[in-house]
Amino acid sequence: MKFYIINSSPRKGYNTSQLLDKAVEGINDTLNDTSNEVKIEKIDLYDLQYTGCRSCFLCKQKDGPFYGTCPVNDDIKDILEDMRSCDGIILGTPVYFADINGMLRSFIERLCFPQYPYADNLDITQKRMPMGIIYDMNIKEDNPSKPFYDTVFDFLEDMFLARVYTKPYSLKVYNTYQFDDYSKYVNTWFDEEDKKQQRQTQFPKDLEEAYNMGVNIAKDSIK
Ligand SMILES: Cc1cc2nc3c(=O)[nH]c(=O)nc-3n(C[C@H](O)[C@H](O)[C@H](O)COP(=O)(O)O)c2cc1C
Repeated sequence: MKFYIINSSPRKGYNTSQLLDKAVEGINDTLNDTSNEVKIEKIDLYDLQYTGCRSCFLCKQKDGPFYGTCPVNDDIKDILEDMRSCDGIILGTPVYFADINGMLRSFIERLCFPQYPYADNLDITQKRMPMGIIYDMNIKEDNPSKPFYDTVFDFLEDMFLARVYTKPYSLKVYNTYQFDDYSKYVNTWFDEEDKKQQRQTQFPKDLEEAYNMGVNIAKDSIK
């Protein structure tokens, strides 16, 4: 069985990456006792050279050689091909400007658009594997802008990911620890003590939720 874990944070080993690693543990622990051979590929998007969709529309060309796939030949071409038939996908993104970040946006354009038909009642998805998405952000959960963020995330999940693949499990992680040492940066918005407190009390629970997401995706993959 093959799972793809996509890290769109440039910071290896930070919040998003740690959460994804926990999800990997959840997948491994769940499928450990089964006879399935499990391969989990963790991809750091910032290590790769690629662009978003180039709007060539070859993926939608009638009887064309690239119908339903993406012809653009760069570092993610083979990954995208393999992902379309894999058994589970977890995306992890730092939130930039109240949305998923640019690297993940470009990646999703290339992953989803070839199998997103411009027609009702037409399903050209190769496989509907279980999915998860982890959003990692600075704002606190009681921030007045939270409903706006939720609308953005829900729209992506319901209108695009669910239409092309499946409705993803969704985990939102708030008030993340952003700097190693807050005193080194110009910042009057975020209180280091509050962030430390959050790190010690809430982040372990977030990691647990990420683990549970991995468990759920693994279970769904063998249903
Ligand atoms: C360019 C940029 C834009 C950001 N915009 C937001 C934002 O709109 N809302 C928010 O809550 N956090 C924002 N953040 C903070 C990140 O989401 C937060 O630090 C996250 O934990 C980073 O994930 P990482 O630690 O895995 O890299 C922004 C950070 C950067 C670098």
